Amino acid sequence: MNLRSAGPGTGGIAPRARFDSGLPELSLDGDWRFQLWPSLDAAPGGVGAEDFDDSGWGSIPVPSSWPMHGHGQPAYTNVVYPFPVDPPFVPDANPIGDHRLRFDVAPEFLNGALLRFDGVDSAATVWLNGRLLGTTRGSRLPTEFEVGNLLRERDNVLAVRVAQFSAASYLEDQDMWWLPGIFRSVTLLAHPAGALRDIFVRAGYRDGRGELRVEVDGPDAGQVRVSVPDLDVHDLVPGTTLDVGPVRPWSAERPALYDLIVSTPVQSVRLRAGFRTVTVDGAQIRINGNPVLFRGVNRHEHHPDFGRAVPAQTALAELRLMKQHNVNAIRTSHYPPHPDVLSWADELGFYVIDECDLETHGFTFVEWRNNPSDDPAYREALLDRMARMVERDKNHPCVVMWSLGNEAGEGGNLAAMAQWSKNRDPSRLVHYEGAWRSTAYVDVYSRMYAPVDEVETIGRFEDPALADPALDEHRRGLPFVLCEYAHAMGNGPGGLSEYQHAFENSTRLSGGFVWEWVEHGIHRTSPDGVRYDAYGGDFGEPVHDGNFVIDGLVSADRVPRPGLLDFKKVVEPVRMAVDDDWRTLRVANLHDVSDLAEFALRWAVHEEAGQRCAGPLEPVRVAPGDSAVVPLPAEVGDARAAGRVLTVSLVLAQATAWGEEGHEVAWCQAGSVPVEDAGAGAAVTAPRTGDGGLVLGPAVFDPATGLLRSLNGLAIDGPELGLWRAPTDNDRGAAEGVADASVWEELGLHRMVSRTVSVTASADGLVVVRRSGTAGRDHAVDVTYRWSSAEAGLSLAVDVVPVGPWSGSWARIGVDFTLPATLTEVDWAGLGPGPRYPDTGQAQRLGWFSSTVADLSVDYTRPQENGARAGVSRLRLRDPGTGAQLTVRGPEFSFSARPWSRYALAAARHTVDLVPDGRLHLSIDHQQHGIGTASCGPGPLPPYRLTPRAASFELRFT
Ligand code: GAL
Repeated sequence: MNLRSAGPGTGGIAPRARFDSGLPELSLDGDWRFQLWPSLDAAPGGVGAEDFDDSGWGSIPVPSSWPMHGHGQPAYTNVVYPFPVDPPFVPDANPIGDHRLRFDVAPEFLNGALLRFDGVDSAATVWLNGRLLGTTRGSRLPTEFEVGNLLRERDNVLAVRVAQFSAASYLEDQDMWWLPGIFRSVTLLAHPAGALRDIFVRAGYRDGRGELRVEVDGPDAGQVRVSVPDLDVHDLVPGTTLDVGPVRPWSAERPALYDLIVSTPVQSVRLRAGFRTVTVDGAQIRINGNPVLFRGVNRHEHHPDFGRAVPAQTALAELRLMKQHNVNAIRTSHYPPHPDVLSWADELGFYVIDECDLETHGFTFVEWRNNPSDDPAYREALLDRMARMVERDKNHPCVVMWSLGNEAGEGGNLAAMAQWSKNRDPSRLVHYEGAWRSTAYVDVYSRMYAPVDEVETIGRFEDPALADPALDEHRRGLPFVLCEYAHAMGNGPGGLSEYQHAFENSTRLSGGFVWEWVEHGIHRTSPDGVRYDAYGGDFGEPVHDGNFVIDGLVSADRVPRPGLLDFKKVVEPVRMAVDDDWRTLRVANLHDVSDLAEFALRWAVHEEAGQRCAGPLEPVRVAPGDSAVVPLPAEVGDARAAGRVLTVSLVLAQATAWGEEGHEVAWCQAGSVPVEDAGAGAAVTAPRTGDGGLVLGPAVFDPATGLLRSLNGLAIDGPELGLWRAPTDNDRGAAEGVADASVWEELGLHRMVSRTVSVTASADGLVVVRRSGTAGRDHAVDVTYRWSSAEAGLSLAVDVVPVGPWSGSWARIGVDFTLPATLTEVDWAGLGPGPRYPDTGQAQRLGWFSSTVADLSVDYTRPQENGARAGVSRLRLRDPGTGAQLTVRGPEFSFSARPWSRYALAAARHTVDLVPDGRLHLSIDHQQHGIGTASCGPGPLPPYRLTPRAASFELRFT
């Protein structure tokens, strides 16, 4: 096994399109004999021989990633190679997985057959019936061998030796688990003489008409006929171009596909053709002449139990989930996906950037010396990868751009890949983010994580000129995409709205792709039998990047995180607004193609007691890019009153392939929940001594500290000033210098201590002054608590005044309490049902919500601040056993309630580390610091930053 060759695999046939040939196929998936060896030296010779004795081996399913089946361990690195940067060599300690399968075939495979591997990670040598077929490289790309002459009906022996690492591993440094194995299917394809080798469907669209040209490669190309029955196209001769007349064009919004049959005397192949044309016009991406805006995500292939061998139903379900959340575009980061994914993308409707299996990011740590992207020794391998992607996927209308790869530096091999692709398929744009400085050989100006102000500058064509005027002119003519933005790691991403606003307000900005769709957590079970998701470092890896692999809009189990719901709202393709009198509705249609014919409108008015009235609205038709103002039925305006909320929803009028009838796509609200006055009115009671403390109305205070001991008979501790939160992944991110979390640690926000300055009782109530500071520092915060008791309840006015030299930011300004853990039920009036921080929570609506304390928490894979509800004017906590309850009112506060402390939350590494401590931890926050996306990208924008400041707020407890 030569693992040192920088070249492509050997022995395979030339790359070609993936299609269902209409000829017999035999799946070789299933249980194979398997044995893992620690190195090539330790592996036996002769595994390819028919009579090799594998009786002592175990077995493994194919497809699979071995470490997910107990053979070796997963290992996670982001950028750094897990081996010395010494191309083309890899260490001797290189896991080798030997696979063997015995199988019978039907006679129709004996007249010519191909053996296809859809994906082997990472380098395989293949033998059939004792004969060497060749080698595979390019893990996420297919390899096909001609095998007809070697097959027999009974007891064929297929042997595959897979090395985890080879010279090609330098090309596969994507940010993901290192997971070797035959992770996609192995199939035997009958391929008799006269069968088609390749088909290229070129289906364009211009001015309402389709243009079709089908190229074929096969021994009897002259006998090939093409038909598109629905277009009355029959017997089209391959290689000729036909104006097929009026067609429905393909787009992500209306993915019209036509059955296209290619027949030969030996077979009939059915393909799905979509007519569409991708152009750049005035630095704007157009599809079928219409400007498009990508509402995109980056999609990796990962499953928490199976690694890279993602079951088909999981992948299909996640594509539907994307559509349900207004995603219209996918970047296949950072390799070609399972081929079925593109067929589903054709059918469901997604614009796809198909990315080549190439990343050499780890060379950044050696100043890009010997980067394969610029090394002639690797040129053939890079061109081979590009060709195998383009050839495999060329018939998918969903693919609108070919991407050369990700983070592979710069170099002549990349330019050569671009050139090859333009020659072979000029109908798609060439993308490569790494070329953004010159953009010399790409068709789009693509960036990742650029801050929103820079994106806006680019959108206005005001980006600084390049030194070379020709290159500058070229780049200025290119449309812009953010191939990665809004790093969805942990709580977040914050700041989506500002990006979307920028995208929608510049023709040059074609939108972006959130990083990323799915978290790459791996299921594990704690000693107590509780399942949790593991991440980098949990498998004893000597070099790893921790939880940086946990940065998805959905968990590894495909459960939407709050960020996905926010994304859905922020990118909604229709924006609606109701006027103040609830008499008219403004509808702005941001679709590229749809005139809203597929949607219905509904309205509903809610009040605290529930839904008051509801009904349908007349359907509206608005041209894409246009807006209209339509009257609302009189009933709607007549229902308007204080304490009521109107919601208008745009929903699917009929079920589609991805959504049920009535599925909501966009919505707006008007009205308000009652914002109750926090003032208690005239004081009716004065504090008195009793019950072992100072009694004020329903409350008992500690006379020495001025802190609460009980309220309404409930044991309560607090209030304590709260300026800190358990850092989020974004708080920990230092993308722009110092991480907010480090600033807070340096300021000592997590270890503030307090002393009571004074406790003063008067006829008006109780005034408690406390100073909070931190060890070794002379900055402090003076907090004055003014308590008064009236019929309406116990009122608290809080004044927060920073003292001394503060700088940086605070995580929040609030007051913390602990209460009996038996208060497990929560309801509130405000925004909900989910969490919201200053720059997240766009998905949350006005209304009246209830939950349990347990359900308020978001179980981020690495625990961190989460679950705050915002815009709240009334919060009620209830003990379902005793009926005891506590109500907090105030103008627009946010709260969090958890069965563990912030410190426990911050200390936990995994969800299983969080254990209820017997108290309820309640925080009532006046302000919060934004979330931003500094785990990779910019932090919270200036308006969302909470700088140390004085603050005053009022609450009322009943
Ligand atoms: C990008 C990279 C992605 C991922 C992301 C951070 O630089 O292209 O693969 O690593 O950063 O999660």
